[in-house]
Amino acid sequence: MMDEEILQLLRERPATFLSGEEMSRLLKVSRTAIWKRIRHLRSLGYQIEASTRSGYRLIHSPDLLTPSEVKPLLKTEWMGKVIHYFKSLDSTNSQAYELASQGAEEGEVVIAESQLKGRGRLGRSWFSPPYLTLNLSVILRPLIPPHQAPLITLMAAVATAEAIEKCSGLRPLIKWPNDILLRGRKVAGLLNEIQSETDRIHFVILGIGVNLNIDEKMFPKEIRSIATSLKRERGEAVLRKEFLQHLLKELERWYKILLKEGGDAVLMAWRKRAEIKGRQVKVTSFGETLTGIAVDVDSSGSLILKTENGERKRVVAGDVEYRVKKEV
Ligand code: BTN
Repeated sequence: MMDEEILQLLRERPATFLSGEEMSRLLKVSRTAIWKRIRHLRSLGYQIEASTRSGYRLIHSPDLLTPSEVKPLLKTEWMGKVIHYFKSLDSTNSQAYELASQGAEEGEVVIAESQLKGRGRLGRSWFSPPYLTLNLSVILRPLIPPHQAPLITLMAAVATAEAIEKCSGLRPLIKWPNDILLRGRKVAGLLNEIQSETDRIHFVILGIGVNLNIDEKMFPKEIRSIATSLKRERGEAVLRKEFLQHLLKELERWYKILLKEGGDAVLMAWRKRAEIKGRQVKVTSFGETLTGIAVDVDSSGSLILKTENGERKRVVAGDVEYRVKKEV
């Protein structure tokens, strides 16, 4: 807490020095305590100039996702105004689920610099090395019936793709159900979890993982050929706090569109970015493999497939592999 206060004081006076004495008076702690925290902040990557006569001056801040780094950049009305920040967590989704169960409000977010047991879809794990990715979980409490919850996932995929495009200039593709690809490789994934009763959603946890600054050789061998990062694709590291600013803004915007205009607007944007119609696909779903032509995605997020023998099938969950593109 004191770190945040010290940083705030230093940020308020970017061009001038602030004496240790003044800081200790304002924060009601000893000068030794201030010095210890300054030493700690430097160990986190903050460059703080110290002059025996004049005091301290902040020269450079590291790309951390702490509330004090992120909040001044936020351009949202309500999303991300409360940030639960952790250096490391098992999973931001698990933490957000617990917070939401205890009454955390819509728009509160959980961020961890790394995850020890990051969770992916279908029981898989998610690679989240420290300080190189974005591991975000957003708590939502939408007043929509539970059967419409899949629209929230589609909306989050669209928002994530738009944030990636805004930040990199590259155009990502959404691969059903909600993988975000750049040049055919996965750059981001979504894991949304819901707590509801028959006719009411208690909350939704929107879990978003984005590979921002991971170098290719850092990815575990098993995923190296299918994963990528924004840094790899644009050839330059991304300022993670800046990406988070775009992502929260897009999420807030698309969530508003979903609630005001309904699912059609979201579905239309999803379809545009997914380019799924007419693709020849191979789908693995609950141990079964289906091949055919993708016809569409319905409002529950299910994939509608025309199989080789002309049958129409609705696939609720699974993995999809794209083959050559055909018209239907
Ligand atoms: C997938 O494509 O399999 C989904 C990956 C989702 C990863 C994110 S990272 C933040 C949040 N916390 C988790 O444990 N998982 C999601």
